[in-house]
Amino acid sequence: MLRISAFRLLGRTGASRLSLLADFNLRHYSSDPLGVRDDTRDARAYFTTPIFYVNAAPHIGHLYSALLADALCRHHRLRVPSAAATRFSTGTDEHGLKIQQAAAAAGLAPSELCDRVSAQFQQLFREADISSTDFIRTTEARHRMAVQHFWGVLKARGLLYKGLYEGWYCASDECFLPEAKVTRQPGPSGDLCPVSLESGHPVSWTKEENYIFRLSQFREPLQRWLRGDPQAITPEPFHHAVLQWLEEELPDLSVSRRSSHLHWGIPVPGDDSQTIYVWLDALVNYLTVIGYPNPEFKSWWPTTSHIIGKDILKFHAIYWPALLLGAGMSPPHRIYVHSHWTVCGQKMSKSLGNVVDPRTCLDRYTVDGFRYFLLRQGVPNWDCDYYGEKVVKLLDSELAFALGGLLNRCTANRINPSGTYPAFCTTCFPSEPGLVGPTGRAQAEDYALVSAVATLPKQVADHYDNFQIYKALEAVSSCVRQTNGFVQRHAPWKLNWESPVDAPWLGTVLHVALECLRVFGTLLQPVTPSLADKLLSRLGVSATERGLGELHFLPRFYGHPCPFEGRRLGPETGVLFPRLDQSRAWLESYTNAF
Ligand code: MSP
Repeated sequence: MLRISAFRLLGRTGASRLSLLADFNLRHYSSDPLGVRDDTRDARAYFTTPIFYVNAAPHIGHLYSALLADALCRHHRLRVPSAAATRFSTGTDEHGLKIQQAAAAAGLAPSELCDRVSAQFQQLFREADISSTDFIRTTEARHRMAVQHFWGVLKARGLLYKGLYEGWYCASDECFLPEAKVTRQPGPSGDLCPVSLESGHPVSWTKEENYIFRLSQFREPLQRWLRGDPQAITPEPFHHAVLQWLEEELPDLSVSRRSSHLHWGIPVPGDDSQTIYVWLDALVNYLTVIGYPNPEFKSWWPTTSHIIGKDILKFHAIYWPALLLGAGMSPPHRIYVHSHWTVCGQKMSKSLGNVVDPRTCLDRYTVDGFRYFLLRQGVPNWDCDYYGEKVVKLLDSELAFALGGLLNRCTANRINPSGTYPAFCTTCFPSEPGLVGPTGRAQAEDYALVSAVATLPKQVADHYDNFQIYKALEAVSSCVRQTNGFVQRHAPWKLNWESPVDAPWLGTVLHVALECLRVFGTLLQPVTPSLADKLLSRLGVSATERGLGELHFLPRFYGHPCPFEGRRLGPETGVLFPRLDQSRAWLESYTNAF
């Protein structure tokens, strides 16, 4: 029996609740002045990446999927301090015809190929600072047990039957295709070969007796789910696309293959002549990680957010929720969908020889630099193009020059000889522009800066909720530019600490700029963890002062004590981010930027 209404009753995570928060009042100083702290401090969240095929080495597209999930997860941890409240899984998808064929082509046993490539993914994710709490391999015993249990539940609920399946199968995409999705293209020998219309990969005709899942029964429940929860699939165009697909008939789905044809997989319980379809096997990984079928999984499942690429939307937004409903569970809480990276305008592929190795990029641009690039330039709604000069230009201008330069300007010994967080002077910078008296120095643009940085954490949180991480970074970058403008406008290097007239204002300019930097450092933690750590450490911000709940921006401006005022800055640790382009042209193009 289907219980479609059950999942609507499940608790929302703090993330979605946050988007409902009213805009906070800049003048009102509360215990959560930025409006981004989760009110239920133990709000759980479970983030997942897709599990990656092990037929070939990882590329930047795979890293991008993992980075998006990592940034979402790290942002959640900033909202909810208890680490136990967050789980984050990734892993490798090791069964199926695609892997069986790749291993045969490489002259390896499938398990050997799996061990080799899975290790490459694990190493890449370690190097890229992916903070996953679990790495699952579908060849593990715990997973086999979970899949076979899940199968048993579907069977017991009368949702599997044996029937003759006849149609096209694409091994590269591991999917069945209707005739309308197949076209003919000249093959290597010039003959016309059937290929998938969407991916261009070869397909072959399959006719065999399989187990079939009653997918057709789930069309209406899926429609009700998506209509009742407009944010279930984000960004919206993907939600819309799935509803469009559901306008058409939903045929039943073959969920096993003859073992004589596909031996590399999990056998159907009680019928060794059949192997479980690799997508059913793979999707269950999300349950295996949280302990399924052990009841502990129930406390995590309602908080699940899947991060996936657009090419696997149908599997996650139709097959998976239908399978879950069939097994008596709710669909995932959120499905966040991203588009793809192309290279110099072309799809990345082994045959074109244009696959970009992410480890080379991490070496060349630094871990934080490459993380920043992919997340700053990657737009979920559209494909993005990768080329090297773009990376250098972005990192040099935003991290080395704008952010690194700003930190340097406020901490350099020549401007800040005491090496402290100077005092904020309320008569120089009163809380209302109208109160600026004879000693007041703040101008209208300075109030605009304070207002922009004060609202930044909430803005950033909203962008994370809408899976627009690039917009969050764009907003931070724009505030960094504004802060540089503030420093440039008041030229602290022209003010004199010895002068009783200059000193309070000089201290205030540096105090405001350091406060802005503290906000930027805190908000950049999910994307550039090491760089943010370096920045916050230089500012003397301790580990317990780096969450969003503790981020009270410029408290002195609002008439509250500032714990940082008078505090010693942290030790000097060199440039924040190394300039990548060492040419003179770089200096010329940036020196006059502000
Ligand atoms: N094994 C399946 C997923 C099973 S999840 C239960 C799979 N694996 S994959 O290795 O082909 O892809 C993994 C992820 O990488 C997908 O989200 C896919 O969209 C993403 N990318 C693959 N190529 C990509 C780009 N060129 N750009 C961005 N992401 C890309 O599908």
